[in-house]
Amino acid sequence: MADKINIAIDGFSGSGKSTLAKDLAERLSYLFIDTGSMYRAVSLFALQEGLFKDGQLQTQLLIDCLDVLHVDFAFNEEEGKYCVRLNGMEVEKDIRGLEVSNVVSQVAAVAEVRKKLVALQRHLGMSKGVVMDGRDIGTVVFPDAELKIFVTTSAEERAQRRYAQLRSKGEDVNYDEVLNNIQSRDKMDTEREASPLRQAADAKLLDNQRMNRLEQLQVALKWVEETLN
Ligand code: DC
Repeated sequence: MADKINIAIDGFSGSGKSTLAKDLAERLSYLFIDTGSMYRAVSLFALQEGLFKDGQLQTQLLIDCLDVLHVDFAFNEEEGKYCVRLNGMEVEKDIRGLEVSNVVSQVAAVAEVRKKLVALQRHLGMSKGVVMDGRDIGTVVFPDAELKIFVTTSAEERAQRRYAQLRSKGEDVNYDEVLNNIQSRDKMDTEREASPLRQAADAKLLDNQRMNRLEQLQVALKWVEETLN
């Protein structure tokens, strides 16, 4: 086995997969790529350009814009991590609120958007040593990833975690609103036609309902060790 591998982490919204991916990348000195942030950046663009009518994405209008829409990552010294950029502007802070969360599943269901972002994701993983999290990483982006992990937890537990996170950032949300958002995203993510969320046959299942951050990291590090040996 080569000394660097690619690690694909997939799972439901708010399952803690980004935290796990971040922790793993830090431990292994790998590059961490949060692909959800890329779909969120495209969603921000669609909102800024007024591409929704009565809450519905005008899909063809977005497709027509894809050539002038540029998503990439740049290292942010202050944050000490790579942050997503939309047409050269860092948008990390603008993509986490409910406004983007409420529309991102519509944007992520557009096959042309996925095609563009998947090409970019494959390019980022070309040299190995990447921990990438999303919904289709083990199934579509890196079907040959040396280690695939599928993270899961109940919707209520995920809503509780996301609610606490948003409140701590000062967002005025209520729990039911957050739970509804998570349940409707689960539905759209698993039922959409283009690359629906599903566990790859060779992915390891990590149910972190009763695990803390360190415990889930330890489980994953053991799998990394087994993969490398
Ligand atoms: O991980 P997240 O909640 O930031 O993801 C935002 C949305 O993007 C989510 O509704 C599913 C979608 N997504 C996707 O379809 N494929 C990915 N690889 C990553 C995210």
